[in-house]
This record gives sequence, C-alpha cells and structure tokens, in this order.
Amino acid sequence: MLAETVKYLLGSAGPSGFGSTSTADDVTAAANHLGAITAIITGATSGIGFETARALAARGARLILPARNPDAAEEVKSRIAGGGQIIILPLDLGSFSSIRSFVSQFLALGFPLNILINNAGRFAYDQAESEDGIELTFAINFLGPFLLTKLLLEKMVVSARETGIEGRIVNVSSFCHRWFSGDPLGYLRLLAAGEVRYNAARAYGLSKLALVMHSKELARRLEKMGVNVTVNSVDPGITRTRLNRDREGLLLDMTFFLASKFVKNIHQAAATTCYVAVHQAVAGASGKYYADCNESAAAKSAASGEAAAQLWIEAEAMIADADLDGSESDPAGKQ
Ligand SMILES: NC(=O)c1ccc[n+]([C@@H]2O[C@H](COP(=O)([O-])OP(=O)(O)OC[C@H]3O[C@@H](n4cnc5c(N)ncnc54)[C@H](OP(=O)(O)O)[C@@H]3O)[C@@H](O)[C@H]2O)c1
Repeated sequence: MLAETVKYLLGSAGPSGFGSTSTADDVTAAANHLGAITAIITGATSGIGFETARALAARGARLILPARNPDAAEEVKSRIAGGGQIIILPLDLGSFSSIRSFVSQFLALGFPLNILINNAGRFAYDQAESEDGIELTFAINFLGPFLLTKLLLEKMVVSARETGIEGRIVNVSSFCHRWFSGDPLGYLRLLAAGEVRYNAARAYGLSKLALVMHSKELARRLEKMGVNVTVNSVDPGITRTRLNRDREGLLLDMTFFLASKFVKNIHQAAATTCYVAVHQAVAGASGKYYADCNESAAAKSAASGEAAAQLWIEAEAMIADADLDGSESDPAGKQ
C-alpha cells in the first residue's frame, strides 16, 4: 500500500509506460486512427468527460455528446477544437424514456459506433428518486448506463464487424466502489423501505461497485457471443470537478487544498479513460479494471461472477417496463 502511494505521488510509470501523471494527450498521442472512429461520451458538458471529449476530438474522432442540457452542450462543443464532427443529442440518464429516445435518435443518424464511454455520474447528499421510481444515484450512475449499453450493443457489434475496428465500452467507475460491500440490490430495497438511512458515500460507492460488476458480467457475455467488442471499467483518480456541486464552498476548497498532493489535474484525470478507450496496448482486454493508465485490482466485493450475473438479472427486472425484450436490440440479454 505504501509502495503504491509513493508510486502514485511520484507518477512512476507502470507496465503500460504511463502512470498517475500521464495526461489524456500523452496516452492518445499515438492514436492516429481516430478519424475512422465514432464515439459516444456521456457527461462531456463538464469535468473529466469534457477533457476526454477534447482529447479524442483532437485526434479526429467523430463525437456524439449526449447531454441533459443541450444548450450547455452546444457551448461546450464550441470549446472543443478538433477535426472531427461533434453532434449533441438530448439525454437524461435518470430517465428510461429519455435513454430510449436518445438511442433512437442516434441510430437514425446511421453512423457506426466504435466507442461508448459511460462517464456521466453524480454524487448527491440528498436522497432522491428517478422518474422511474429508482434511487437516483443508482439510476444515473449504473442503471441508466446499463440500459444505454444494452440498447447500443447490437450497433457496436455490427460496427466492429463492418469496420474491423474493435469496439470498446469504457465504464467510468471510481476507487470509491470500495466504500460498499454487501448485496447492492438488498441495500436499495432497505433504502426504499426506509429501513436504512440514505448515506451519500454509500449510495455513490454502491453505484460504482455495480458498474465494475456489470463490466465483468458484460465482458463474459461478449466473449461468449464471440464478438469484437470489449468492456472495461476505470478509476480516473481524484480531481476537482463539479461532482461535489451540492457542497461547493470554503470547506470543499480547504479539503482539496489539504489533499492537493493526491489530486490530479483534469488532463491527468481523463488519461485512464482515454488510454482504455483507444490505446493499442489495451486491444483484446475485457472485464478488467484500470487506474492510473494501468490494469489494477478492483475490490474483492467485485470479484464474484455469480454476484455480477445476479446483478444483471436484477437490473433487467428493474427496467422490465423499458421494453427490452426485442431480440434485435438486446443481443447480450440471452447469453
Ligand atoms: N472527480 C473525481 O474526483 C472523480 C473520481 C472518481 C470517479 N469520478 C467519476 O468520473 C465521472 C465524471 O465526473 P466528473 O468528476 O467529471 O463530474 P462532473 O464535472 O460533475 O461531470 C459529470 C457529468 O455527468 C453529467 N450528468 C450528471 N447527471 C446526468 C444525467 N442525469 N444525465 C446525463 N448526464 C448527467 C453532467 O451533466 P450536467 O452538466 O448536465 O450536470 C456532467 O456532464 C463520474 O462518473 C464520476 O463518478 C470522478
């Protein structure tokens, strides 16, 4: 642990040749093939998602940027200088109907889909429910991306086959997935019944743990399908963004000041996502967890394949109303 911390602080390169101080531009420097790539990046209106979008656009990728506030996204688009096309579409990950509508609009454009980066997320101090009646942090951080990925999967499989380019799904998790252990859905049921009190850190950790477990289960299904699409989860590291927007102020400023040695700048925080999304060294890797641009170990609580498979089944049950039974749009559902 001490050795890991020292390595982090020094920014020493790991086996990949990159480390905690590598930037999004460093890891994409050799990615000359992005002119042929179409990528969806959620949560690009701010923070890590914006920097991820900027770095991939700089290499010529065509970007689809879903946003719940399309006007804000248009402003963001004007700040991303790059050769590739950028298209903004409305999406609220806390709403199943919005997700379905986004997918229809994207598919109607007729583009391939090579990269899906599930980056959008929230950390909230107050308990809330989505319009579908689901705890909102879980809905936005896990269940929304789960549904989005399922609905886009066939497009990714076909795109990989037709373009010969490996499809990659990157789920932006967090080291905070270690904050939760136990039965995720059991906890949510207790929360809904008012039998446990909402705890922001636990709710956030739970959603990020679910994302790591989901990546493992989806990787297993993709391998069984024999398709050229991979999925991995990443920890970007700590960085100052709008994630703590509920509690902006002096206390947060001081916390970040005191922790400044451990805090990455935004260029460093987007590096692991970009590395896993486009670097050649990651080709074929699936179901893995990355931090500081290197493969890393996720929490033991994310290790059980049985629990990950069960989570998948329960997530499907939670979105049963979302009309997911169409076999055309749900290729992984039967694996
Ligand atoms: N910052 C860190 O230290 C840190 C550490 C570990 C992991 N992460 C993860 O990194 C990812 C990016 O976070 P960040 O730090 O860059 O935070 P951020 O600056 O708050 O960005 C979050 C993004 O997610 C979008 N978003 C939130 N709720 C949404 C919804 N319902 N539908 C669609 N988009 C929504 C936001 O859009 P709006 O502009 O509309 O709000 C924004 O673009 C998150 O998954 C976060 O959990 C961050």
